Amino acid sequence: MTDHLEIRPLRYSDLSQVVAVERRAFPMPWSLAMFVLELSKESGICLAALGEGRLCAYVICSRYDTVWHVMNIAVDPDQRRRGIARALLRELFARADAPGVQYTLEVRPSNRPAIEMYHGVGFTSAGRRPGYYHDNREDAMIMWRTVGEPGPDAAWPPASDQAAPA
Ligand SMILES: CC(C)(COP(=O)(O)OP(=O)(O)OC[C@H]1O[C@@H](n2cnc3c(N)ncnc32)[C@H](O)[C@@H]1OP(=O)(O)O)[C@@H](O)C(=O)NCCC(=O)NCCS
Repeated sequence: MTDHLEIRPLRYSDLSQVVAVERRAFPMPWSLAMFVLELSKESGICLAALGEGRLCAYVICSRYDTVWHVMNIAVDPDQRRRGIARALLRELFARADAPGVQYTLEVRPSNRPAIEMYHGVGFTSAGRRPGYYHDNREDAMIMWRTVGEPGPDAAWPPASDQAAPA
């Protein structure tokens, strides 16, 4: 699937498809207005994944000072376990990684697929926000990914990141 995947910046014209995927992906979906707000922020990175021209996934990431906050990521249920979310996160990192940059996110501790995915791309868990989710008062697990500082003679990006397979 990822062989035929196109990843590009999200556009306002994608948002009706985004909202449709969002409603299939979450019990408490974001509204159209929330996506419009995120897309309007010039400092953010919002990416769409398309397979055969159809939008099947997206990631929304906002920057607050020096920290990138992964606000939302979802893959259409019939397109999961094909590496699409991993490919979106790798594209995000390709665009935003720099020495010392940090990413953070909140995830439900019950959301094992998402936690496994975040671990797989370098996030580690660090603490909880008690009762963070309004629907069931579930805690949020807080996760972080920090881009290492290269040594004085190191090239940037590190060779290990340059040709990472999707
Ligand atoms: C979480 C989600 C985005 C993952 O998308 P995906 O495209 O299926 O993920 P990928 O195929 O890129 O998987 C990457 C890795 O994540 C882990 N993973 C993904 N789905 C998993 C599952 N159901 N169970 C266990 N691990 C899983 C695996 O380690 C996987 O690597 P592998 O397939 O090589 O074993 C998708 O399940 C989704 O949209 N869920 C609903 C929305 C959501 O919960 N978003 C996150 C909010 S914090």
